[in-house]
Amino acid sequence: MSEKTIVSELINSDERLREQAPRIVEAREEAGLEGLVGGLQAVIINTEPDRWHAAAEELLRFTGLSLSDAFVSKGFRTCVFKTPGQGQFRSADIILRCRTYGENPFLIQGPAARTADRPNTRLETFVFETPDLSEYVSIQRSRGLSFMTSEPVRTEAYSFIQTLPSAYTGNSLGIIQWHDEPGCYGDGAEPIDLGLRKPNSSYLENIRWLDHAATRVKAQDRDLAILEFMQLTNYRFDFAVYVESLNSITSVARLSPRDFAMVFTSGIRPYDGGQQSGPTEMFIRNYGTRVHHLAFQTEAIEETFAGLKEGGLKFLIGLVGSPQEGLKQTFSQPSPSTLLVNEYIHRYGGFDGFFTKSNVTLLTASTARQ
Ligand SMILES: [Fe+2]
Repeated sequence: MSEKTIVSELINSDERLREQAPRIVEAREEAGLEGLVGGLQAVIINTEPDRWHAAAEELLRFTGLSLSDAFVSKGFRTCVFKTPGQGQFRSADIILRCRTYGENPFLIQGPAARTADRPNTRLETFVFETPDLSEYVSIQRSRGLSFMTSEPVRTEAYSFIQTLPSAYTGNSLGIIQWHDEPGCYGDGAEPIDLGLRKPNSSYLENIRWLDHAATRVKAQDRDLAILEFMQLTNYRFDFAVYVESLNSITSVARLSPRDFAMVFTSGIRPYDGGQQSGPTEMFIRNYGTRVHHLAFQTEAIEETFAGLKEGGLKFLIGLVGSPQEGLKQTFSQPSPSTLLVNEYIHRYGGFDGFFTKSNVTLLTASTARQ
């Protein structure tokens, strides 16, 4: 049977994944990787140089994030955003940057139908913490993993290395060991003033930490993407929501119930050219495999949603869900500067599920409008 036939006949189920995921965890334990990778520290978003400033302005206008640092270093302009109310949940930072020269290692996928004018724009890297980077690198090298640099980059504040972009997701994973206070990235770079101020809108204070991110992957790569992510981190596959009518699976990997969750969305069946391929596989045709959205935990979500709309943010869908169902969510339209959708999510007290099938269905359907 040809590879094409095998792929076109593929129908995902959790059976293979549930069989293989525990083996990955066992192998991690045997290799000494358990406990060696902690929580998400930062995500790195890259934009085209002429959209970088606009992207920074959007993050200030439409999230709770504050600008904490901006600097120029070898080949990059960078700004760092932090979430207020860190402590109980230490939220990941957002590092927004553009390349000023040098090669972009994330171009391996090539442009998709709607990204040809923004080839450098994507969420590139998820950065996780380790207490011992040299141990992590040595173990992963012995398992055959290659990194982007031959040695970790070492500064006074941290040591850092990152993987090559995944063939399944296009994302890279960064691993960072802090030498001092976590969250200091500038370390010797030249500071710059962007001339930006955070708008004085009180509803922005309701938008808190990064709850999860969702990456769109092809149906045929769904298991491989999740297993690969598990091999590189200490995450476990948790559960999946199947929406048969939209040919879409939303799969969730967790580190702990309190940590940032990594979500993978794929087709149940691969793209076959027809309408029945559904919005998830269609998104990949149009935009490539990439992170589709960043979800921010949001208090007073009705008031915040109204405020964001008044403040100029457009949405793919209204608020979906209810206190009785346990959560409310919505999706913004994608940013022209980052191509990312913002999700705003509020879970009501006592809700012990992570998602509900009805919300997943409505939100997935809304992505057909992108
Ligand atoms: Fe989401």
